[in-house]
Order: sequence, then structure tokens, then C-alpha cells
Amino acid sequence: MNRRSPSLDPVQAARWIRRRHPTAPGVGIVLGSGFGPIAEAIPDACTIPYSEIPGFPVGGVKGHSGQLILGRWHGIEVAVLAGRAHFYEGFDMSTVTFSTRVLAALGIRDLLLTNAAGGIRRGLKPGDFVAISDHINFLGTNPLRGPLATGRERFVDMTAAYDPELRSRMLRVAKNLGMRIREGVYLAVSGPSFETPAEIRAFRTLGADVVGMSTVPEAIVARQCGMRVAGLSCITNVAAGLAGPNQSLSHGEVLDVAREVAPRATRLVEAWIQG
Ligand code: HPA
Repeated sequence: MNRRSPSLDPVQAARWIRRRHPTAPGVGIVLGSGFGPIAEAIPDACTIPYSEIPGFPVGGVKGHSGQLILGRWHGIEVAVLAGRAHFYEGFDMSTVTFSTRVLAALGIRDLLLTNAAGGIRRGLKPGDFVAISDHINFLGTNPLRGPLATGRERFVDMTAAYDPELRSRMLRVAKNLGMRIREGVYLAVSGPSFETPAEIRAFRTLGADVVGMSTVPEAIVARQCGMRVAGLSCITNVAAGLAGPNQSLSHGEVLDVAREVAPRATRLVEAWIQG
């Protein structure tokens, strides 16, 4: 059984949000593990729990808080999603991407998708950042499958899904801050099990640099909605099998590294916002 939200009208949800807090945000930020403290960095923000927004899915993963934060950050009107619904929680794709459509309906033009990921490419270490240059959808499905949303394109171009200008800004500000950052291809798996070493070897052969369980559905829907997309991974672990035969992986380890990285991740995104 797929988990569905009771109401699936993102335009209605956006109207509800605007009534609650008149706002015209231009930039959206989705916070993955490790990026949570960004939610507290925005001064005088309006915080709305997902559970109050009509139709908004409430995910239940440790480390993801479930709030929409609206405010002005360094002079830019932002909408921040602290927490996301994951496919592995059993939500169907339209529910996983409901919040992306709400951001589009709020008028977001640039969307930064952040996540924790496992490093596949040699040399990637926990604590490194990767600006996503492209993705491989290994989820076995596509969020645009099914009825076509009104006014949207059926066959969406994904040639430059991750906007080169937003990405080069990320690389530049990271370098200025002295932070290790690479560009790389993000491969999305459904999870929730971690990958086997054989899968990781296969993904490396396919051209993946990092692996994670989110971001790709949101990026696809954001492109359909005409948003510019930036993706930023925080490497929390070396992917399965690459750290030797005695390596094991746990969500606790992912969260521990994410917590450690959080202050740097916040500084990086803050610098990116300022351009
Ligand atoms: N695999 C998949 N998702 C992840 C990982 C990983 O190794 N690390 C953090 N998210």
C-alpha cells in the first residue's frame, strides 16, 4: 500500500500558506540530513508545521523535522523545507513531490536540494561536499508518471537539470570558504536498505559519484515546473564495501557525521544565498 496525502492540491496548499503568511519567496531550500540548522539561521522566520498545511505529507524520519520556514535571509525571501517525505517511507511519488509543487505554486524560481549521501568516487571523504552536476534515476519509477498536471509538459527535458550557473556559484563560494567540494553525479536508490558492495561497484561503473535516497524526484518535478535546480550532497560515509571488508553502515553514523558537518553546511548555504 502506498501512503497518500488526503488532499493533493498543491495550489490550494500554497494559497493556504500565503493566507497564513503573506510571502513571495524566490528561493526554496530543501534541508536533508546535515543541513537542519539552516532552519534556525533565518531571523524572524515564520515556521509552519507540515501537519497544519492542507495535503502536506508528514514524513517520520529521525533527523528531519517537518516544518516550512518562511523568511528573509540576507535580503532574499526564502522558503525552507526542513524535512522531506521519502519514497522509502512508502509514500507514492506524487506525495513525495507534493512539497516541490507547493514551492512552485508559491513562485519559487531557484530550488536548492540538499541531502546526505554515500561517497562512491575515490577520494570522497565524510564531511566533503558535492555539487550535483547530473543524476541517475535508479528508483525504478518517475514522479511524472500518471495524470499530467494542468499546464505542465509531459516529456520534460533533463539535459541540464542541475543549473550550471547555480552550481558554479556553489563551487565558488565553497572555495572562498576553504571547503572541500567536488562536482558529481548523484544516483538515487529507493532504500531504505543501504546498498551492497556489488551494487556500489555497479553504480561506479555506471558513472555515479555519490548515492542517496532522495533529491531525484524533487529535481524532476522542479524541472517540469520550470524552476532552476541546484543539488548539494554532504558526504556522510564512504559507500558500502569501499572502506574495507569490516565496514558496516548505519543511519546513526550518517546522522553523527551530519551533525558534525552541520555548522559548515549552514555557512556554505548561507554564502550561496548571498551569491
Ligand atoms: N547510501 C544511500 N543513501 C545514503 C548513504 C549511502 O551510503 N549515505 C547517506 N545516505
